[in-house]
Amino acid sequence: MQNMLILGTQWGDEGKGKIVDWLTEKCAAVVRFQGGHNAGHTLIINGKKTILRLIPSGIMHPHVTCYIGAGVVLHPHALFSEIAELEASGLDVKKRLKIAGNAHLIMPYHVTLDKAREAKKGSEKIGTTGRGIGPAYEDKVARRGLRVHDLLNMDSFEQKLKENLEYYNFLFKNYFSINELHYHEILHDIIQVKDDLTAMIEDVPQKLQALFDKNERVIFEGAQGTMLDIDHGTYPFVTSSNCIAGNAAIGSGVGMHNINYVLGITKAYCTRVGAGPFPSQLYDADDEKAQDEIGKFIAKEGNEFGSVTGRPRRTGWIDIPALKRAVLINGVKGICITKLDVLDKLKEVKICTHYMHNGIECTISPQGASELAQCIPVFETVSGWNESTYGITDWDSLPSQAQKYLKRIQELLGTRIDLVSTGPERSHTIKLSSFDSI
Ligand code: GDP
Ligand code: IMO
Ligand code: MG
Repeated sequence: MQNMLILGTQWGDEGKGKIVDWLTEKCAAVVRFQGGHNAGHTLIINGKKTILRLIPSGIMHPHVTCYIGAGVVLHPHALFSEIAELEASGLDVKKRLKIAGNAHLIMPYHVTLDKAREAKKGSEKIGTTGRGIGPAYEDKVARRGLRVHDLLNMDSFEQKLKENLEYYNFLFKNYFSINELHYHEILHDIIQVKDDLTAMIEDVPQKLQALFDKNERVIFEGAQGTMLDIDHGTYPFVTSSNCIAGNAAIGSGVGMHNINYVLGITKAYCTRVGAGPFPSQLYDADDEKAQDEIGKFIAKEGNEFGSVTGRPRRTGWIDIPALKRAVLINGVKGICITKLDVLDKLKEVKICTHYMHNGIECTISPQGASELAQCIPVFETVSGWNESTYGITDWDSLPSQAQKYLKRIQELLGTRIDLVSTGPERSHTIKLSSFDSI
């Protein structure tokens, strides 16, 4: 039985959640290993929409246990409001959700700092989700973070909270000139959820090992996308965790050999929300900050608005050099192309095959954001298919021009396409024969 790692190969929102949910039917557990409630994974099941932020996208299947690993940063109230939403729709969540005690907590001062920094940067801002993700990871690395299992010893929790707040309030008052936060309010707030949260603590590595020993399949669910990775992404326009494959083992606490197959989720085009370079973006020729008409059309057809913040996502053509880097640094074995149907009405579709950088042809994206920003995309045009692919579930039923488009991507990338998604519902998925042996 192969354990799968499902991750984004672009700038997030590739459709990871839909595919994790669909593949969960044949697995025992799903693990989130990084990020926090900056993620927004949308599932559409029989027309009903569910947006998951922290809870793994396997939760809709009652036989599945969901784990939040040590690499995640967890905002307690965000978690409980998500649980409440799911339980209101009849799902039993608390019994099936297990949390690593060593996952770090996102505290109110992290959220305040995230927002204050962005406000201070003005037009230079990163465009974070404002959820406190970066500051929570900073505390983790600075070894002053509060973790879920710190809530089991309130005396020392209170002490650490006081020390942290003293530090943050100094910053708020003296550097940002904003209101300080109140210790008793923060404490009171966390006490409300403390018992429910600690009741979900589990030794995640041991539980996962027990599943591996029984030959049960586990899915590792990535959040964000490769180009948002803190080390390998378009730094500093990135998130604050490693979203790439190597972190799945670290963030969940398993040996690397347990992850046998990496599926790279890839939109048939490309989107980005927040600031930072995006070479294949469909810019307006007269206003380099605005989308052109095709870009707007794709955004509308693909409903490209952030599921967490509602912000419009920038759109562009599929970017092969960036995907090549994603395949390389994740060890992607198979690709899942999503949202093919969004391109159905276009007369022609473009593929960014390579970039020109200082007059030199660049077939794989450079590592720095400033170099990437200087890259000029070179496109190949293929004709559109002008037919609906929405909901198609087998390869042979795809219009031949759509097949050609997919085959061309496969050829340029040198990586096989294992799955194609043709709509947001679970069932709107094409499985290629190469996937049968996985
Ligand atoms: P994630 O963060 O990678 O899980 O992706 P999001 O859920 O943020 O964004 C993907 C969006 O596309 C969601 O609204 C999905 O319902 C939708 N979606 C996923 N796959 C498809 C597809 O093949 N076709 C269409 N039209 N929508 C899709
Ligand atoms: P999913 O899992 C798309 C982006 C933000 C911002 C940058 C840093 O749904 O694919 P942060 O709040 O993480 O410090 O913001 O990262 N970002 C995402 N973009 N999808 C996501 O998650 C994202 N999570 C963070 O927009 O540019
Ligand atoms: Mg998303």
